[in-house]
Amino acid sequence: MNAIEIKNLTKRFGKFTAVDHISFNVEEGKVFGFLGPNGSGKSTTIKIICGVLQATEGFAKVLGYDTGTQNANVKKNIGYMSQKFSLYEDLTVNENLDFYAGIYGLNKKDRDERKKGIIALAGLSGREKVITKVLSGGWKQRLALGCALIHQPKLLVLDEPTAGVDPVSRRTFWDIIHKISSLGITVLVTTHYMDEAESCDELAFIFNGKIIEIGAPKDLIKKEGVNNLEDVFIKYVERETNTSTTTSFEDLKFAVKGEE
Ligand SMILES: Nc1ncnc2c1ncn2[C@@H]1O[C@H](COP(=O)(O)OP(=O)(O)OP(=O)(O)O)[C@@H](O)[C@H]1O
Ligand SMILES: [Mg+2]
Repeated sequence: MNAIEIKNLTKRFGKFTAVDHISFNVEEGKVFGFLGPNGSGKSTTIKIICGVLQATEGFAKVLGYDTGTQNANVKKNIGYMSQKFSLYEDLTVNENLDFYAGIYGLNKKDRDERKKGIIALAGLSGREKVITKVLSGGWKQRLALGCALIHQPKLLVLDEPTAGVDPVSRRTFWDIIHKISSLGITVLVTTHYMDEAESCDELAFIFNGKIIEIGAPKDLIKKEGVNNLEDVFIKYVERETNTSTTTSFEDLKFAVKGEE
């Protein structure tokens, strides 16, 4: 069974095509990495999957529900952490969790039980009454993840969840992601960190709104005959743009005072 099914999905903003007839499936229970350079269409695709944006052409289905027409079923089954994650900075840790529990209409028993689990998961025990804005980036990120999990979604969608957090927090976060996946929850995640991408079950590369490759990390590395995913990523971009990513040091002459 596929948790996500995307067929010919296209999104235009006026005359500009941000997502251009893409198709891929994500199997239930997998960690699926969605990679691509800035502006390639990752967040736009994710917003359509979450039912926030309407597709111009094609469709995206989440657990069999069409994201355009069966929005309520999609939202019930999906946990979404957006690129600028969605905590209320001037609420306390507890109040943020209560707010999300309220959105999903949880009863007090479920709310209190899940809150306890999330506080433990985020390492926030004893900080329940702290105002969110004073938390470190790693804590905020894990709290935002907890908020996205409070209604026990079957699919978790994370848009650059680790941008700007330190290596220890990134590692902890990914341990949590793999634990979540082992419980049968499907994860769709975008990242610019190739060490994170390497731990996904499958990857899709998007460039200028088009999918250019899909596969398991080790297969993509093997296919390109390189040593790691970073090299794969760079090869794709060089191939698609027909340019080299290496900068000539001649280009830097402007930055130093020369002898006239
Ligand atoms: N609402 C909008 N109106 C017009 N253009 C948009 C809109 N949203 C996104 N775009 C454009 O669509 C393209 C894809 O943007 P998107 O945010 O999907 O990229 P991304 O792959 O998530 O990039 P990043 O890695 O920087 O987050 C960009 O050129 C962006 O400027
Ligand atoms: Mg984005």
